Amino acid sequence: ARSFARPLSSITEVAESIADGDYSKRLPLAGKDEIGKLAQAFNRMAESSQLRMESIDTDRNNLLAVLAGMIEGVVAVDKKERVVHINEAAEGILGITAASSAGKPLWEVTRLVDVCQAVSGTLKNASEITNELRIPGSPADRVVEIQSSPIRDSEGNLAGAVVVLHDISELERLETMRRDFIANVSHELKTPITAIRGLVETLISDRRMEPEKHERFLQKIANQSMRLSSIVTDLLTISRLESGKSLERKLFDLRRAVVNPVRSLTATGENRGVKMEIDIPNDPVSIVGDEESLCEAVNNLLDNGLKYSREGGDVFVRLYKKEETVVIEVEDTGAGIEKRDQQRIFERFYRVDKARSRELGGTGLGLSIVKHIAISHGGSVFVESAPGQGSTFRIVLPLGNH
Ligand SMILES: Nc1ncnc2c1ncn2[C@@H]1O[C@H](COP(=O)(O)OP(=O)(O)OP(=O)(O)O)[C@@H](O)[C@H]1O
Ligand SMILES: [Mg+2]
Repeated sequence: ARSFARPLSSITEVAESIADGDYSKRLPLAGKDEIGKLAQAFNRMAESSQLRMESIDTDRNNLLAVLAGMIEGVVAVDKKERVVHINEAAEGILGITAASSAGKPLWEVTRLVDVCQAVSGTLKNASEITNELRIPGSPADRVVEIQSSPIRDSEGNLAGAVVVLHDISELERLETMRRDFIANVSHELKTPITAIRGLVETLISDRRMEPEKHERFLQKIANQSMRLSSIVTDLLTISRLESGKSLERKLFDLRRAVVNPVRSLTATGENRGVKMEIDIPNDPVSIVGDEESLCEAVNNLLDNGLKYSREGGDVFVRLYKKEETVVIEVEDTGAGIEKRDQQRIFERFYRVDKARSRELGGTGLGLSIVKHIAISHGGSVFVESAPGQGSTFRIVLPLGNH
């Protein structure tokens, strides 16, 4: 009886450790009798259980890794709304931790009512629910899209709900920017169109207008149409720059991007009584980039320098190398710019004095174009100015391979 009892007790021992989750123990194979066969079958069972458990573990870890790596927040709850799983992104969005929320009802661990309502709704009607959640914050609110779906067990019965949280704040921000941009563009286009319509209607109805007045009206129409055309040109430039395709990367002498705009604006300068002085190196300054765009950038800076100067003022244009960069500098002796406006003038449509700038034919797009061109060449643009002290704009571009 002894030789019979020992193998049985070791089988019991191994069975117990399997029950406790340890699948590694095996029975010594002894004899070809009934007990020996039982031990063999037992070992095979232990082996296949171990493999199966390992594969379940791997699957589970893969699933957890996928959930942890997701940008979307994921929260799973059981039928009683108790948190079963919550991934890292959801922890961030809901402001809770997995450790403190596991097993507790969702409504107890988060104050975000919309999320709890979506879950209750899904569990109540066994249906999908989508809505949007706004989490107040600074500088901007966070906007999160909530999608709650039922979880079913293998028999198709409702077992819980899974909520996917998708942070759409960035999309919202872009959408707001797009809307503002369209509103601004429409407004800027509408102003000259309205003016032209008014002037033309007066001309049509007043056939007996004195010649001088007639002439003045036509001049105004000409000015407003030029304005329209320059707005559209600026918009096309922006869209060309933003599409990013059309920028050339050719080796050229950057001095050309200084000399050509100065040449084309000389007459304008003379009309306004503003002198332009130019200071560039004697040797070529080779750079890889888009000559036309860089000409346009300098042209915009010069145009501002001339536009926002008093008669008798000066505009200095300089080109020089500094360390690993090359600097294009446009300095004027004009009205200068207050500190608080200095960052904003690079925004689209921003003008310090709207009325005055519009009178001068400005749309507020010039500097945003300059900034865009500088950035697309791996450079940047800066302003140094004080009211009454003139302004200096600098485009700084990296030299060499970029
Ligand atoms: N050199 C300068 N001196 C003083 N103010 C300036 C100067 N350059 C720009 N500004 C201010 O910055 C604003 C924005 O300039 P920006 O070139 O972007 O637009 P704009 O000149 O008004 O119009 P656009 O260039 O599109 O015709 C101007 O309206 C003006 O108020
Ligand atoms: Mg301008």
